[in-house]
Amino acid sequence: MNINTYLQNIEELNRLSIQSYQNGDYDNAIFGFDKLLELNPYDRDTLYNLSKVYYDSGKYEQCINKLLELLDTGDSDDSTLILLGDSYCNINKLSEALICYKRVSDNKEVKQKIKKVKELYKIEGDKLQKQYMSYPYPNTWKNQGIPDDYLNNVDCNSRQRRQVLYPTQFLDINFLQLKYLFEYKELRKLRILNAGCGTGEGLVGNAFRYPEVEYVGIDISSNSINIAKEHAQKLGVTNIKFYQKNIMELTADDLGHFDIIISSGVLHHLPDPFIGIKNLKELLKEDGLLSGMVYGTIGRREIYDFRDMFKLMISDVEQTSEKVEMTKCILDCLSPWQRLDRLKIYNDLSIGDQGIVDLLLNERETSYTTAQLSELFEQADMKIEFHDDNYLDPQFFMYGIKDSAIRERFKILNQGAQRKIAEILNGSIYKHCFVSYKKIFKPKERLPFPENWLDYYPIIWEGAKLKKDNKGYFIDLIFKYGESVSKVVPEDKSRQKLRRLAINENEALFLRNCGGKFAVREILTEIKGNLEIKDMRKLLFTLSKIDVLFFFEHKQQNYNG
Ligand SMILES: C[S@@+](CC[C@H](N)C(=O)[O-])C[C@H]1O[C@@H](n2cnc3c(N)ncnc32)[C@H](O)[C@@H]1O
Repeated sequence: MNINTYLQNIEELNRLSIQSYQNGDYDNAIFGFDKLLELNPYDRDTLYNLSKVYYDSGKYEQCINKLLELLDTGDSDDSTLILLGDSYCNINKLSEALICYKRVSDNKEVKQKIKKVKELYKIEGDKLQKQYMSYPYPNTWKNQGIPDDYLNNVDCNSRQRRQVLYPTQFLDINFLQLKYLFEYKELRKLRILNAGCGTGEGLVGNAFRYPEVEYVGIDISSNSINIAKEHAQKLGVTNIKFYQKNIMELTADDLGHFDIIISSGVLHHLPDPFIGIKNLKELLKEDGLLSGMVYGTIGRREIYDFRDMFKLMISDVEQTSEKVEMTKCILDCLSPWQRLDRLKIYNDLSIGDQGIVDLLLNERETSYTTAQLSELFEQADMKIEFHDDNYLDPQFFMYGIKDSAIRERFKILNQGAQRKIAEILNGSIYKHCFVSYKKIFKPKERLPFPENWLDYYPIIWEGAKLKKDNKGYFIDLIFKYGESVSKVVPEDKSRQKLRRLAINENEALFLRNCGGKFAVREILTEIKGNLEIKDMRKLLFTLSKIDVLFFFEHKQQNYNG
């Protein structure tokens, strides 16, 4: 075929595809435009046309993907941004829609669209509030049998007691105190905000442990707040002020500024998470820390599959209670060979209807990859650090790959791409736990393993518990939201192998004294055990490497972990 005929064929294919679109034959139009893109993947007109077909046939996700590809090819024009904004609107990604509209040159049509998004914020916010009024979350304490007088009557190591005293939503904060704050902030002077405290299971337990700290708990659901107040009263906790408030409308004039803001499982429910982040940032002191958890897209695939499937079945069902019963029925029928069966890993499904609604029937939620979250916080001029870093360490996932050429390919990718690959390879990260702070704040770097370590004051992070089983002592890490993730430590830096960290009787005794009040030398003298300095150094070095043990130059009076 000569070039002329070839070009005529392309033109003809384009004409036929446009005609199919105009006749409402979307499948053929998509087929045609796809073929054209195979020939020229960067043709802006075809990318736009294909996006438009996707949009008109209600395939908004595909439309967004094509428009993003189009934007990657060069400057954005108004019609592309408007179509992208409209697509986001249709899948309820309101903040993304707003960002697109705001990039379009000022005109009446766009002003109308911006107004519409803001109205949708209100509608979405109201729906969510209604949901959490009817189904206050969480309901673990009530449903998992923690007795009314749990703190007085249960023995110290019981699971229930631990659930109250070490609320998973707040584990990070102890970690953070150690990592950034402890050396120059006194615990008793801290102001901590729990934004979206729900029924207060995290907040009340934490406030019980630290009576000297001033806590504020806010939530949009007054019913949740009332339950939280009841919990506080039962425990005799008096250092929390509760308010019914909307994060989307928060200002520092209302509540003042905070050293730490905890917002676990909340931002992804907001009509515009970006506005939420910006509002919380306004409430942070200059050296304040925002600790949060938001949903991870990749690990939650089953949840989204369930929702897509369920939506087809229940378009006519209005009552949430009816949807809950139908959900239970479907869950009961799942077998291990079905991918949806993996939903059973979520504790939420065993804490009652509240959990089912929160997990599977939520009125509003979005989710993120770490790359998307990083971008969101970057836009808010904040730094973000993920707790999952150990799990997302790209090297960790590469070790099994023997082919050196693939390893080389991976190595030269930028960090963002490496993380993306690691996240996909991991595949099960359904939550991202992070700490974030204003860019102007430069947190103190954690001390490296000090040379004169014998004169330093060691603290074991309280999320790490020393335990014993029939093989001896081990460290059980209870971070990662209560999951016991590790009885093992990396054997070497490349994390190629994991092994159990053996701890003998004397070392266990030593570790029990790592509370920041005694220096290493003092503890060693005190326990008079037969401990080799060389072995001790090795153990402490390993623990400090995996963020389980921290060294401080001075005695830490405040720490009671
Ligand atoms: C999934 S629950 C998490 C509760 C609690 N943080 C926890 O981890 O147990 C989400 C909570 O966010 C609250 N919430 C949702 N949107 C809110 C908003 N705009 N302002 C304040 N709270 C909100 C809900 O009412 C609900 O209690």
